[in-house]
Amino acid sequence: MLKNKTAVVTGGTRGIGLAIVKKYLENGANVAVAGSRQETVDKALAVLGQYGDRVMGIWPDLCDPEAVAGAFAGIRDRFGSLDILANNAGVSSRTSLYDYTLEEFSKILDINLKAVFVCSQAAARIMKPQGGGVIINTSSMVAEYGQSAGCGYPATKFAVNGLTKSLARELAKDQIRVNAVAPGVTRTDMVAALPAEMVERISAGIPLGRVGEPLDIANAYLFLASDLASYVTGVTLRVDGAAMV
Ligand SMILES: NC(=O)c1ccc[n+]([C@@H]2O[C@H](COP(=O)([O-])OP(=O)(O)OC[C@H]3O[C@@H](n4cnc5c(N)ncnc54)[C@H](O)[C@@H]3O)[C@@H](O)[C@H]2O)c1
Repeated sequence: MLKNKTAVVTGGTRGIGLAIVKKYLENGANVAVAGSRQETVDKALAVLGQYGDRVMGIWPDLCDPEAVAGAFAGIRDRFGSLDILANNAGVSSRTSLYDYTLEEFSKILDINLKAVFVCSQAAARIMKPQGGGVIINTSSMVAEYGQSAGCGYPATKFAVNGLTKSLARELAKDQIRVNAVAPGVTRTDMVAALPAEMVERISAGIPLGRVGEPLDIANAYLFLASDLASYVTGVTLRVDGAAMV
């Protein structure tokens, strides 16, 4: 479904991001895995050995426009194009408002929102002269409901939805589609950090009766990246088993 396309997946070293990387590689794309450190990128590349020179690693500071532009230009130079940006990197928090420091709030804004802006700008500057491309952002079910602690996290995901709708409208004339995927509770390190009883309670309350797997989310990322979604832009696609909390 993605033959002759090149994708970059931020936070592609584990969890949902690594599942997206695998799904894109299985479907014929060249993929750049973007991680925070060379060490974690190398670890991810080690499990992707079967894809040979169709996969590469980058580790720019995602909030540094020059570093990201340079890394994305490197991807284009290596594979000939940059067609798909999956803005997946993200950090979560359940800190109470009473304990939140400005430093922690800024950190979550940086990776969950500012990096999405920086990466989208760098990718669009490459995609426009190419004649188009696809940007997919990672929202969350909490961007519908908020959450009862850690207000910075849902605040960034509401903002990601706004960025998605706005960029979809702005970039449509350049044939760049911009969508978001809003996962529900998904079995990754982010969820492993939650108390087990909380995950059980959440699963029991999900109409489909289970938490999501990274593959469930990666399949939505595949659809939105592919030509099957050629007339889909500006949407946030919920992939959450109809969860409501
Ligand atoms: N797991 C869930 O239940 C869930 C639900 C809704 C949304 N999400 C979203 O899905 C995305 C992936 O989450 P996950 O569950 O796979 O989490 P995870 O913690 O397993 O992975 C997060 C990824 O982001 C990367 N990352 C974090 N900070 C970074 C930085 N400064 N620079 C570069 N990369 C950085 C990590 O290296 C890692 O690869 C996030 O945006 C998250 O908010 C997850």
